[in-house]
Amino acid sequence: MTATSAAAAAYIVAALLFILSLAGLSRHETAKAGNTFGIAGMTIALAATIGLATRSLSAAGITLLAVAMIVGAVIGIWRARRVEMTGMPELIAMLHSFVGLAAVLVGWNGYLSVEARGGAQTEIAHSLLGIHSAEVVIGVFIGAVTFTGSIVAFLKLSGRIRSNPLMLPAHNVLNMAALVVFVVLTVLFVAQPNLLLLAGVTALALALGWHLVASIGGGDMPVVVSMLNSYSGWAAAASGFLLGNDLLIITGALVGSSGAYLSYIMCRAMNRSFLSVIAGGFGNEGGTAVDRDYGDHTEITAEDTAELLRDASSVVITPGYGMAVAQAQSAVAELTRKLTDRGVAVRFGIHPVAGRLPGHMNVLLAEAKVPYDIVLEMDEVNDDFDDTSVVLVIGANDTVNPAATEDPGSPIAGMPVLRVWEAENVIVFKRSMNTGYAGVQNPLFFRDNSRMLFGDARERVEDILRAL
Ligand code: TAP
Repeated sequence: MTATSAAAAAYIVAALLFILSLAGLSRHETAKAGNTFGIAGMTIALAATIGLATRSLSAAGITLLAVAMIVGAVIGIWRARRVEMTGMPELIAMLHSFVGLAAVLVGWNGYLSVEARGGAQTEIAHSLLGIHSAEVVIGVFIGAVTFTGSIVAFLKLSGRIRSNPLMLPAHNVLNMAALVVFVVLTVLFVAQPNLLLLAGVTALALALGWHLVASIGGGDMPVVVSMLNSYSGWAAAASGFLLGNDLLIITGALVGSSGAYLSYIMCRAMNRSFLSVIAGGFGNEGGTAVDRDYGDHTEITAEDTAELLRDASSVVITPGYGMAVAQAQSAVAELTRKLTDRGVAVRFGIHPVAGRLPGHMNVLLAEAKVPYDIVLEMDEVNDDFDDTSVVLVIGANDTVNPAATEDPGSPIAGMPVLRVWEAENVIVFKRSMNTGYAGVQNPLFFRDNSRMLFGDARERVEDILRAL
């Protein structure tokens, strides 16, 4: 067997492992196995690619490859060990920007080593030169949009710039115009490849990526992150075509399509169309609901909450971003065990975009060893609230906001939410009357059956545990 066919066989095995990995990651019970498949696939892919590359590399090239891998691995391990669960989306956004930048560099390298050298003197047949040029320009375009888009997403998610949407006049027209100019530049480049046109496409795509994500505001950020995930996949696939690497094409397509599908699922969960997300403008702080007077809220103590829970027959816990901030998951798991031991039926209701990344709450609860069978999705629990004695809203806000269903003027109108207000009693754990991520006030806090339990969610749950 030649080295090339050995590498091709290794690529097929790696591709299958990546598919198994995605399948595994789609369910709690199999997520760990999914991760293991992914690690195994990537190890095989790296080994095969390095094995192939080293055959044609000089000693200096191999040393450079080794140094780059060691530096990358050290930075990767360092960041992954340090990152908090709440900082995961911004880390992911930053990593997407690297994929985008890599695709831009691969595209430019493709141009410099083929078109810039007259094409004919290279191994690429003249009839295929047009296809190569199209691959260059498309790869550079997707890569550059992903690069700057991911940087803006990183800056917004990490709070370095405001998450409000930038609303330039006629911003949708600007986006459409950029796409039209891209198509024209692509046609011109394929007909007559030159440095100026490629530089023009790169600059246009960098500006478009920046503008696209800058125009998208708070509430739509989860969709943006998975959309950029999808873009980074297509950017990698484009690089795969340029480098003639089948595995990169397959992996890129897997990432691209799963990211696109995840964006679709999230849009559905927020009752928004994909196009309206791209069109941006959502998540404007200071929307109509903020200024409205909903009356007074009522407070409750941890001791009284414990009393309420002692007498309850059924309890539903709806966690949100605040549970992650407070790192309250272990205390919440302990409370669940205590109540279950007393014969109270405890279940969790998880909103698809609770927290700051897909599956955020599920990961935290799994880490705290909450049994999977009592962790339910929004649709599985939403019809049961009117039959629930107590709902504990732990650090959730937008995902339990009745304005989404009742106030057509609300910025989050139409977003499906957990209908916690239908329960007999609702206890809201948060530190203040501040708004949640979308920046809109929550009328739930002022309902007759709602009580506010102020303070850090972990400390308050521990107080309840002591009182129980
Ligand atoms: P949010 O609406 O963000 O509200 C979280 C609440 O937690 C805040 O009101 C905050 O109130 C409270 N909180 C923060 N720290 C706390 C602590 N230590 N102890 C107690 N409470 C604390 O949360 P949500 O309901 O989970 O909704 C998620 C939002 O994020 C949605 O708008 C969603 O679109 C968006 N988003 C989601 C994702 C994904 S993929 N899940 C990604 C990005 C954005 P205080 O400040 O008063 O304590």
